[in-house]
Amino acid sequence: MKIVILNGPNLNLLGVRERSIYGDQSFSNYLIQLQDQFPQVEFSYFQSNIEGELINQIHEVGFSADGIVFNAGAYTHTSLALADAIAAVKTPVVEVHISNVFKREAVRHHSFIAPVCCGSISGFGMESYRLAVLALLKMSEK
Ligand code: DQA
Repeated sequence: MKIVILNGPNLNLLGVRERSIYGDQSFSNYLIQLQDQFPQVEFSYFQSNIEGELINQIHEVGFSADGIVFNAGAYTHTSLALADAIAAVKTPVVEVHISNVFKREAVRHHSFIAPVCCGSISGFGMESYRLAVLALLKMSEK
């Protein structure tokens, strides 16, 4: 089972950025824990602050990986192009947010990508990623 974790803009600063919202753990540190919890999964990780690079990555893995866990950061709320990229590929995508976007400013309540993802997980801190992996594993059993 090959799962790609995709992080969008500003998520390279996890552990440093707005810690009261996003916590104090870096993503590279969390990824080690995630790999330990799912030894049967082959994870790969890609982060970019650039919308086009995220689109290219979705195209690149979206016909071969078994699942994509995608935190699109603020592009969630702005990017029809990312939604089109997800719709164009075959691999199922789970939308993830560390914070509960529905508890935050109204501008964060709308997601362009939610309608083309198989589901969305928001508000469980870094655990949101683990829950998304569990969802993809469950889906692959069917
Ligand atoms: C986020 C929520 C977005 O609204 C925000 O722009 C982010 C992170 C989250 O993981 O909670 O960059 O996707």
